[in-house]
Amino acid sequence: MFSLFARPRLANTGFLRIRGTAFRYLSSSHVRLTSRAVVYSRNGDPADVLSVATYPSLPPPAPGTVNIRFLLSPINPADINVIEGVYPSKPSLTYDLTDSGKGSKEEPVFIGGNEGLATVTSVGEHVEGLKVGDWVVMVKQQVGTWLTNKNVTVCDVVKIPDREGLTEVHAATITVNPPTAYNMLTDYVELKEGDWVMQNGANSAVGQAVIQIAAARGLKTLNFVRNRDDISRLKEQLQKLGATQVLTYEDLADKALRSRIKAWTGGKEIRLALNCVGGRETAMMSKFLGRDAHLVSYGAMSKQPLSLPTSAFIFKNLTAHGFWQSRWYLDHSAGEREELMRSLAHTPQHEIVSIDKQDNDEEATRQIREVFKILAAGRHGKKVLLKFKD
Ligand SMILES: NC(=O)c1ccc[n+]([C@@H]2O[C@H](COP(=O)([O-])OP(=O)(O)OC[C@H]3O[C@@H](n4cnc5c(N)ncnc54)[C@H](OP(=O)(O)O)[C@@H]3O)[C@@H](O)[C@H]2O)c1
Repeated sequence: MFSLFARPRLANTGFLRIRGTAFRYLSSSHVRLTSRAVVYSRNGDPADVLSVATYPSLPPPAPGTVNIRFLLSPINPADINVIEGVYPSKPSLTYDLTDSGKGSKEEPVFIGGNEGLATVTSVGEHVEGLKVGDWVVMVKQQVGTWLTNKNVTVCDVVKIPDREGLTEVHAATITVNPPTAYNMLTDYVELKEGDWVMQNGANSAVGQAVIQIAAARGLKTLNFVRNRDDISRLKEQLQKLGATQVLTYEDLADKALRSRIKAWTGGKEIRLALNCVGGRETAMMSKFLGRDAHLVSYGAMSKQPLSLPTSAFIFKNLTAHGFWQSRWYLDHSAGEREELMRSLAHTPQHEIVSIDKQDNDEEATRQIREVFKILAAGRHGKKVLLKFKD
């Protein structure tokens, strides 16, 4: 199976190490250059436009603000679309990382990343409800999370409640994928124990969260994934998470599938399908939905348009929706958001990409671009997170 770790040059147990030439920049400056960011100044392929920039350590936080240090920051598919310039949410340019060079007034940059877990390192005057060591996640979209240190106002972050028992990976991925899964399972169809849900991209981070949350609620899942050499291993992994049945898109062409599904469901109609792939396979999958069903689309990984049979709307009263977690956050209060986080418990399959302190910016840039080249070829169900090592 594909793995970032499978590449011998990058091999390591648990971490993809980005190592290279010696750490050079400290000796050339009186300012302490202790922070780093993955930045870009124009849209394009991340493997071409991203670079790693070093910037000075932060001053003490101003009143009403805190300094935070990122512990782990996911690389989500949407982050790639933002860098490409094809995502509806746009980041703002950063001018104040440093006085000169990348991230200065002369050379503003965008900082990559939307999601991330940070710890509070220093608290300014008049800050209530946050202390050093608290874990926080971002409130606003597209603020830039692929960096080490950042100064934020208290309204920009939300404290992770009930941190006990949460892993860093879980907390770092709590704001996008698990809530997407949770809300899609909750908001469209009133599902009872024993009901069935169908989904494609079932090994994606969202898909895994769907499987786990559904299993915890006693729901059954019919999961579709892309075929691969070691498909039985993937099926086993998803079944361990709680998947009821795992099939490939190729199985959709099998005429016997309808009767197999009927045997599994005992003839119970499936009323919810979740789609992050699009294209022909999604249309084929939707044929297995029952009457008054809902198809909820939240991604388009195949980049193929979705065309559904008109008959499904006329004769089966199909309803098709689009879901966007960002919109959910805008439409719901801070209290509802905190309540949602309390409901979620899920650590996806993951790999951590780490940038070592002793690698200079050129080497780190080369390596981060290599990571994005690998990601462009597929992730195979693993959430990839970025870590700047101390
Ligand atoms: N609307 C929202 O609020 C929301 C929230 C979160 C995520 N999303 C979207 O949901 C999708 C999944 O996100 P994630 O973070 O869970 O992703 P992820 O963990 O990186 O997983 C990506 C998934 O897409 C599949 N995939 C990639 N290219 C494909 C192709 N050409 N055809 C079919 N499948 C393909 C992968 O399958 P393989 O293993 O076979 O490569 C894998 O299952 C993305 O489109 C993301 O933007 C939307």
